[in-house]
Amino acid sequence: MQILMVGTGYVGLVTGACFAEMGHTVTCLDIDSEKISKLNQGIIPIYEPGLEEIVKRNIKQHRLFFTTDYQSAVANSLVCFIAVPTPSKEDGSCDVSYVEAAAREIGMNMTDYRVIVNKSTVPVGTANLVTKVIKEVTDVPFDVVSNPEFLKEGAAVQDCLKPDRIIIGSNASKPAEILKEIYSAFTLNHERMIVMDTLSAEMTKYAANAMLATRISFMNEIADICKRVGANVNEVRKGIGSDSRIGYSFLYPGVGYGGSCFPKDIRALIAVAKNAGAEPTLLEAADSVNNRQKKILAEKMLKYFAKKGGLKGKTIAVWGLSFKPDTDDMREAPSLNLIEDLIKQGASLRLFDPVAMPNAKKVLEGLPNISWCEDEFDAAKGADAIALLTEWKQFRLVDFKPIQGEMKGFAFFDGRNQYKPLDMKGKGFDYISIGVPDQMHDKKN
Ligand SMILES: NC(=O)c1ccc[n+]([C@@H]2O[C@H](COP(=O)([O-])OP(=O)(O)OC[C@H]3O[C@@H](n4cnc5c(N)ncnc54)[C@H](O)[C@@H]3O)[C@@H](O)[C@H]2O)c1
Repeated sequence: MQILMVGTGYVGLVTGACFAEMGHTVTCLDIDSEKISKLNQGIIPIYEPGLEEIVKRNIKQHRLFFTTDYQSAVANSLVCFIAVPTPSKEDGSCDVSYVEAAAREIGMNMTDYRVIVNKSTVPVGTANLVTKVIKEVTDVPFDVVSNPEFLKEGAAVQDCLKPDRIIIGSNASKPAEILKEIYSAFTLNHERMIVMDTLSAEMTKYAANAMLATRISFMNEIADICKRVGANVNEVRKGIGSDSRIGYSFLYPGVGYGGSCFPKDIRALIAVAKNAGAEPTLLEAADSVNNRQKKILAEKMLKYFAKKGGLKGKTIAVWGLSFKPDTDDMREAPSLNLIEDLIKQGASLRLFDPVAMPNAKKVLEGLPNISWCEDEFDAAKGADAIALLTEWKQFRLVDFKPIQGEMKGFAFFDGRNQYKPLDMKGKGFDYISIGVPDQMHDKKN
């Protein structure tokens, strides 16, 4: 089938490439002409494991095209997906203006029946809004479908090729059947499509993200209580995860959730709820626990260094900057909160991330006292402390001996509970993590 993907970002590029991989002919469109020009030269603008290979293969096999031209792209595609940004407005509600703009462009260029599919994460009722926007600019018949995306950055290609489920929100059978045909190649193993009305599909996406974000905030709150009463959240996590009604996923405490989805989507759902006259008490609590959690490592550092002359003039190595491993995405990354707090306190920072440094440099441009390092060893040079912010695999089994030889101090702040506390103490660190009793290296204190 001929498919148009409007918006060639983390979602549009990955799903467009995966549709092509399954045999569809896909045109990815973006208003960012630099991005499209790079893609036409085979340069992939984002880091996503496995993406480059399938993009290049499908370009070569003439199933994947990139353009900025709505007219020809809409003319050639029966189905037009919208995968553009839906950021937060200042009041936390969702800004759907990019979706409206894309819908208007599609509408103005339609010459025949089209199915417009909303893949962006949008407030409940946006399919109706898209219908209204298109009707304002054309008399050509069309249907609007909601098909929220559930891929995870860092595992996006696999998630897309083997989705847990495909939600098709449609109020009519014809467009739902067209969507089922598009996805049929993804569901050979077992049925994964769930068809429902558009409002429920839009709500499903927000509810799923809100549930996951709430689980993280719940564990962060449990970690805080553990710390105060002397319990160890790592043990508690295993203890509760073993309950089959609970399960082990999304039970990791840390420095708060970030990224381009959870924070904005929970805020948007709060706005949707309030607008509908509901009281989203639990959602507001999950959001506020997360905002508090993003400050936790800086607070621990302030406390630790209080007896050592404060953070002013101290050097802190930061390992990992992206909001999670296997992505270069810096949107709402907890590392940004820490970096800002430490700089305010007068610390100098030595930063390293395996792939997110180019994006991090753009976001942190102009901030003082930042050195960009070659690797985790380089970052630790002359540092009074190391802070682990993103649990990249390469940080799991680090040889700490040479690192300690290069450090000025011996504190390790583990924002992701990646190491065994007693091991770290044995290695000579003052080891401070989340929801676990601190381990102070006796000889040096
Ligand atoms: N990133 C994720 O992990 C993820 C997962 C599920 C759902 N989503 C949702 O998918 C949507 C897209 O997210 P993303 O992370 O891919 O965003 P992104 O910022 O990476 O990409 C969006 C792209 O859309 C382009 N664009 C903006 N306006 C346009 C227009 N009028 N016409 C054509 N292109 C336009 C931008 O230039 C950009 O390249 C959002 O609603 C997001 O919430 C994201």
